[in-house]
Amino acid sequence: MSASSADRNLALEIVRVTEAAALAAGRYMGLGQREAARQAAVEAIHVLFSTVQMNGVVVLGGGTPGGVPKVSPGERVGTGDGPELDVAVDPIEGTRLLAQGRANALSVVAAADAGSMYRPNGGWYMEKIAVGPEARGAIDLTASVEDNLRAIAQSKKKDLDDLTIVVLDRPRHASLIADIRATGARIRLITDGDVAGAIMTGVADTGIDALFGTGGTEEGVMAACALKCLGGAIQGRLVSLDLDGNVIPADGEDAGRVFNTDDLVSSDNVFFAATGITNGDLLQGVRYHGAGARTESFSMRTRSGTFRTVIAHHRWDKLMQISQIAYDHR
Ligand code: FBP
Repeated sequence: MSASSADRNLALEIVRVTEAAALAAGRYMGLGQREAARQAAVEAIHVLFSTVQMNGVVVLGGGTPGGVPKVSPGERVGTGDGPELDVAVDPIEGTRLLAQGRANALSVVAAADAGSMYRPNGGWYMEKIAVGPEARGAIDLTASVEDNLRAIAQSKKKDLDDLTIVVLDRPRHASLIADIRATGARIRLITDGDVAGAIMTGVADTGIDALFGTGGTEEGVMAACALKCLGGAIQGRLVSLDLDGNVIPADGEDAGRVFNTDDLVSSDNVFFAATGITNGDLLQGVRYHGAGARTESFSMRTRSGTFRTVIAHHRWDKLMQISQIAYDHR
């Protein structure tokens, strides 16, 4: 990437993409229609990406097991005449959250220099620990839960029982939850959405100190992009689930490897945007009114380290004149 293009803050442009996805998907809040919501968000993403001057290739966007399709890996996005970038897209991170009208559904897009994002090769699940800036040197997936929590507490100048750890609420996490409880640390169970959980560790005043547990591998790479911008860190290891849903070691070339943040996204030019679809800990969801809607988003990049909250007011009368997206009705 040239100096001038690196100075361009693409995160301020790709936030328009996540806003459009959230505006389209937000119509489906609580309606129980995961596929239709995803479809609407994907269509909006395609329309908005076609206006962003970049030469992007989607490397992540394929979904999680049992999940509905996302944007296809290998697809080119952008006008084709800008910087060459790897792109990770999750039109709806937390489709079940949206379908059930629960908190923390986000629309997420990350971009980084071409070739710099880890491309998972069939490993759907990743065991993860994610933390914010103060604890970035404190995590070690090969160490015990207790050792990790002690190191995190020490680096944050907290007692163990001051810590709050986000964990996906899954049967597979029973022993992890027991191990965390045994240390005295507090737990915040989330039903879905571990990208939001990871971001919470890096944003001040969320009250969340770390994310532990097994979630999607693509979500691990997305979280790495966000945490790299925020100065936090993530470690991940590919795992599988057995027929009973227990976590077992993964097979394949990267089995056993501990991925650090830089292994998941090696570039120092990372751009990340997320828009709230439903209300959440990080962002308010889409609020519609007759003539338009309000969105709240994060926009960040590694190079400057600037992290913005973007509040946008959208007007249907204007947008309908310039966009193919049917913003004001389903
Ligand atoms: P989707 O939005 O693709 O449904 O993913 C939601 C999610 O909760 C992720 O945040 C998480 O990484 C993954 O699913 C966990 O997978 P599973 O539901 O199979 O435990």
